[in-house]
Amino acid sequence: MADIDIEKMFDEISYDYDFLNNLISLFTHKIVKRLAVNSLFIPENSKVLDLCSGTGDMGALIMEREKTASVIGVDISEKMIEKAAFKNKNIKYIKKDASDLPFYDNEFDIIVCAFGFRNIENKKGAQLEINRVLKKEGLFLHLDFGRSYLGWFYDRFVLFLAKIFSKKYYAYKYLIKSKNKFLFPDNPFETLCEKGFKVILKRNLLFGIISYQVFQKSGEN
Ligand SMILES: C[S@@+](CC[C@H](N)C(=O)[O-])C[C@H]1O[C@@H](n2cnc3c(N)ncnc32)[C@H](O)[C@@H]1O
Repeated sequence: MADIDIEKMFDEISYDYDFLNNLISLFTHKIVKRLAVNSLFIPENSKVLDLCSGTGDMGALIMEREKTASVIGVDISEKMIEKAAFKNKNIKYIKKDASDLPFYDNEFDIIVCAFGFRNIENKKGAQLEINRVLKKEGLFLHLDFGRSYLGWFYDRFVLFLAKIFSKKYYAYKYLIKSKNKFLFPDNPFETLCEKGFKVILKRNLLFGIISYQVFQKSGEN
């Protein structure tokens, strides 16, 4: 997958990203994102980072849930950011790599990352940044595909739809490859765990096709 330019790929699929997302999730992705956001306790006036913000769904759900929160989105794709900023006028978006964040230490109460971490090239660097910019005892919500006995069927379903509806079939081939590689065999959040993060909630949805975890940063380091 090293031959894929991630930034260019997301720029290229940005124009019909939401449409394809609705199709390949059978219109469930917003429900799943809402369930994950609703499982967080978001204190008043929290500062929240939407990492790999894409077209901005997670930030919008956070603002809907806690109106006093201030949300910043970070994404590597300019075109995805344009879409997100158009939809969410009260959220600031920054084009940056997740492994090189332009924020102070301990700046955020909560970090969310939906369907994004898997795509980050420097995963260790991104985890170090999550650890750095999150406050002590702050929460990190990670949402993505999980392990499911329906995975094989789901993969074919996605590729079938992408072939018909997307001009960028390669991006969906990449999606399937990356999702199947991501969870096996290593723990993708080894660095966070080494830094003392604990998993405080784990939930599988849609027969395990989707899964989310909430990590809490230690109050000590
Ligand atoms: C599959 S989309 C998910 C978008 C959104 N969070 C959602 O749930 O719909 C993945 C996003 O991660 C972004 N991304 C990939 N690598 C990144 C990196 N290293 N740093 C920041 N964003 C990255 C992509 O540009 C893309 O917008």
